[in-house]
Parts: sequence; structure tokens; C-alpha cells
Amino acid sequence: MKETGKMTEINKKDKYISLVDKLEKKQLLSKEEFRDILICEDEDFLAYLKERADIVRKANYGDKVYLRGLIEFSNYCRNNCKYCGIRRDNKNAERYRLSMEDIVSCADIGYKLGFRTFVLQSGEDLSFSDDDMVSIIKALKENHPDCAVTLSIGEREKDSYEKFYTAGADRYLLRHETADKEHYNKLHPSDMSFDHRMKCLKVLHDIGYQVGAGMMVGSPYQTIDNIVSDLLFLSDFKPEMVGIGPFIPHHDTEFNDEPAGSVEMTLRLLSIIRLMLPKALIPATTALGTLDPLGREKGLAAGANVVMPNLSPTNVRGKYLLYDNKICTGDEAAECIRCMTLRVEKAGYHVVNERGDFAGWERK
Ligand code: SAM
Ligand code: FES
Repeated sequence: MKETGKMTEINKKDKYISLVDKLEKKQLLSKEEFRDILICEDEDFLAYLKERADIVRKANYGDKVYLRGLIEFSNYCRNNCKYCGIRRDNKNAERYRLSMEDIVSCADIGYKLGFRTFVLQSGEDLSFSDDDMVSIIKALKENHPDCAVTLSIGEREKDSYEKFYTAGADRYLLRHETADKEHYNKLHPSDMSFDHRMKCLKVLHDIGYQVGAGMMVGSPYQTIDNIVSDLLFLSDFKPEMVGIGPFIPHHDTEFNDEPAGSVEMTLRLLSIIRLMLPKALIPATTALGTLDPLGREKGLAAGANVVMPNLSPTNVRGKYLLYDNKICTGDEAAECIRCMTLRVEKAGYHVVNERGDFAGWERK
């Protein structure tokens, strides 16, 4: 009896290991197979998954880690996402907007520090009109023609996205948040639409942007089947960038008492996504670093190849609080990049001063 038990264990292990090989080879698994590798706790399987993800990432991008200089230029938002600390109805959030001069100066500082991508992120703040955004994008591109500009300003209409692209924006981050409509409706108020978010992602891709989708890991109500849906969506949509990080509660939201997402599950998903989308640009997120002091290093080892140090002026850093205990809210940009470079090198990778486009991407 004992022997049979042992054999079953070995067979199980073989099964999971062969699922990793299958994922690497075919870049896809069935629903049931994804389910299996999301719940398997076998240590050898987890080590093998991580090892293969690192090999695939090295085959595509070597030991390079790309830097993105994050400029959080406004925390005003017209939306009320239930999980987010800067949601419209959070009256305790101290609001700010950076001027165009501030934004340009953040980028200038970033350029001197070696950044070749600037990420303009904000709540959905329509007081930055399309024309304002176009002026900002053009200014950054004129000052630094060798740099990429990434936008992360939420949902707008197709003609706005087209104007930004024509002005020179190269990439757009718009996490899909969850690929399950019912789950989406539990995380967002009824005036927000799953279909519209998905439509925006498609429009952005059609225009020619390098597009970033992604989700929070462990968001309230999230099930393993929801994560399977996320993986199937990512496999089908094939974003150039995938941003995933653990959900972390914010004290001024209704999800205040919900548990944070798991670091382990985030790392497992980073590896799965690396095998599924071998060339994807995948950040080791600040949220991961917030839950675990070595979270970003672990993220790199699991398959991530991007880090996003903060370039926002220190006087507003502490106001862009999506979740509690966010790290790096006090450091100067120069300090952030020094710390990040040390961390990346210590983890065995190499920070490069390159734009870091998706391999093979060309502007339409
Ligand atoms: N407004 C833009 C948008 O909607 O895409 C960009 C800013 S939004 C704050 C960036 C991302 O932060 C969201 O897509 C969401 O996944 C993440 N986020 C918001 N609240 C969070 C929380 N409590 N924990 C972890 N991530 C969170
Ligand atoms: Fe708009 Fe979070 S609710 S950025």
C-alpha cells in the first residue's frame, strides 16, 4: 500500500512537471490544466516553474531589466473603483495635480538618471484634456526623442487614444482588472463597464500601441476560476506588457478589512505568464515590494523584467496612495534609482538605460 502511495506521489509530480513543459512549448494549457498548476503546492513543481520562467526570460531579454520612470501626475479620479485609495468618493485623499512644467522637469531629472521610458499615470482626470495630454507627450518627445512615453490614464474614447498615439505616445497600460464580468461588477460600481474597458484595450491594440493588460492577485471575491479566465484572456489578447501585483487593502475603502493578495500566488503567476507570453514586458511591481521587502527581487527571479521606480516629486508621493503602506513614498528620484539598481544587480540581473520596447514592435 505504502509503495503505491509513493508511486502516486511520483506520478502526480511528473504530471505537474510535464504541464510546465507543455506550457513552455505550446504557450497555452486547458482550463483544467491551468487550474491544476494554480493550486499545486508541490515544492519541486514550484521550483521547476520558476526555473523555466527564468530560462525563457533570459532567452528573450538576457539578464536585462528595463527601467520605467513613473510620474504620477494627478490623483484626481472620476471613478469609484471599490478597491482604490484615490477613488472619487474618498474625501480623505488629499488631491493634487502636477503642472506641465512639473511633469517635464520630472522627466528631465529622470533622463539624467538614465531613464529612457516615462510612464505618465493618473486617476481618470478629465481636467487634463486631450489637448493637454498631447502637449505633454509632445514636450517629452521633443526634449527626449530617444525615450518612450507610456500612458496610464484610464479609459478614453478612440479619437483621444489616436491623438495621443499620433503625438508620440508608444505604450498604454490599462489593466483589464479581471476577465470575468461578474467579478468585475463586484469590484466596480454600476456606472463602470467591463465591456467598455475591454473595448478600450482592443482599440489601443488596433491603433498600434504596445498595450499592457493585467490584474490584481487576490482581489476581493477572486476565485481560481477567475484567474484561469485572466490567463485565457491574456493568452488570447497577447498584450505586450502584463502588470500584475497583489491586491492590498486601503483603509478608506469598503475593502478595508479584506486580506491582501498572496505574494506566492503573484510569483507563481509571473512565471506562468512568462511561459505563456515569452516576450512580454512584465514589471516586478511596487505592490509586490510593499508586501514583501524582497518582493521585487523575487518577482525578477520569477520571470519579470521591468522595474518602475518613482519619478514623482517627493511632495506629492505620499498622496498617490492606492493602498496602505506603499513603499518608496519618501525617497528622491536619485535615491530610488540607486536603491533599485542595487537590488536588481544583487538579484543577478542588470539594469539597462534603454527604451526596452517589446521585441519586434514597430510604430504603425
Ligand atoms: N486610472 C488608471 C487606470 O484606471 O488604469 C491608472 C491608475 S490605476 C490606480 C492603476 C492600477 O492600480 C489599477 O489598474 C489597479 O489594478 C491598481 N490598484 C488600484 N487599487 C489597488 C489596490 N488596492 N491594491 C493593489 N493594486 C491596486
Ligand atoms: Fe480611479 Fe483608482 S479609482 S485611479
